[in-house]
Amino acid sequence: MARNQYLTIPRVIGHRGAAGRAPENSLAGFRRAAALGCRWVEFDVRLSSDGHPIVFHDKTLERMTGQTGEVSAMPLSALLKCKVAGAPIPTLEGALAELGALGLGANVEMKAEAGDEAALAASVAAAIARGPPLPLLVSSFSLPALAALFRVAPELPRGVLTERLMTNWRDAPQRVGAAALVCNHQTLHRSAVRAVQAADFLLATYTVNDPDRARELFAWGVDSVISDVPDAIMAQRSG
Ligand code: G3P
Ligand code: MG
Repeated sequence: MARNQYLTIPRVIGHRGAAGRAPENSLAGFRRAAALGCRWVEFDVRLSSDGHPIVFHDKTLERMTGQTGEVSAMPLSALLKCKVAGAPIPTLEGALAELGALGLGANVEMKAEAGDEAALAASVAAAIARGPPLPLLVSSFSLPALAALFRVAPELPRGVLTERLMTNWRDAPQRVGAAALVCNHQTLHRSAVRAVQAADFLLATYTVNDPDRARELFAWGVDSVISDVPDAIMAQRSG
């Protein structure tokens, strides 16, 4: 799959909206990211126990809502009663509608639990199909989820998330027809960036909050950085 054949991603993507500037994975955070000048935001999607995709990072509710329990064990009706910074947890459908209204693109990260990969991919594909037309990339650490997405919606651009690029890094994107790799910047080296470029994959990195590090990554040829403080990264780029 050729680099940039059908996918372009912006140089700076807001992480979980703009998590350093507003509550993570919230509609308010998406609005803040747009106000800061972001073109895209990354956010996390999990399945409720009754199969509805919601925008939430953690496996459990505690950190963000103060409630107890696992997201995957609770139905949508109960999750919608949980508040993040005073607002209900967004549904994927609501998030996509908000992004459409804001004119933002989306890096939708699928947070799969063992056994729910196919259902998660199907629900994400269905929500995207029903939602406004947006530029987007669907990423995941879960190869089964990405493979399931490839089966049900091969037209959706996919990105393989990884903590580290191993020597066999090509295998995963080839298996799931992904055009992009999204790697933890802390494990990334210049030689790996060159190899990914030479193989015609897009390369994004997370989570880059230091403008100097972002400058270095761009100099190496990284296509995109995902940042909690996208305004700080964009400011150094134009400075
Ligand atoms: O998608 C990049 C990044 O969000 C992956 O890590 O834990 O912040 O979802 P995490
Ligand atoms: Mg994420």
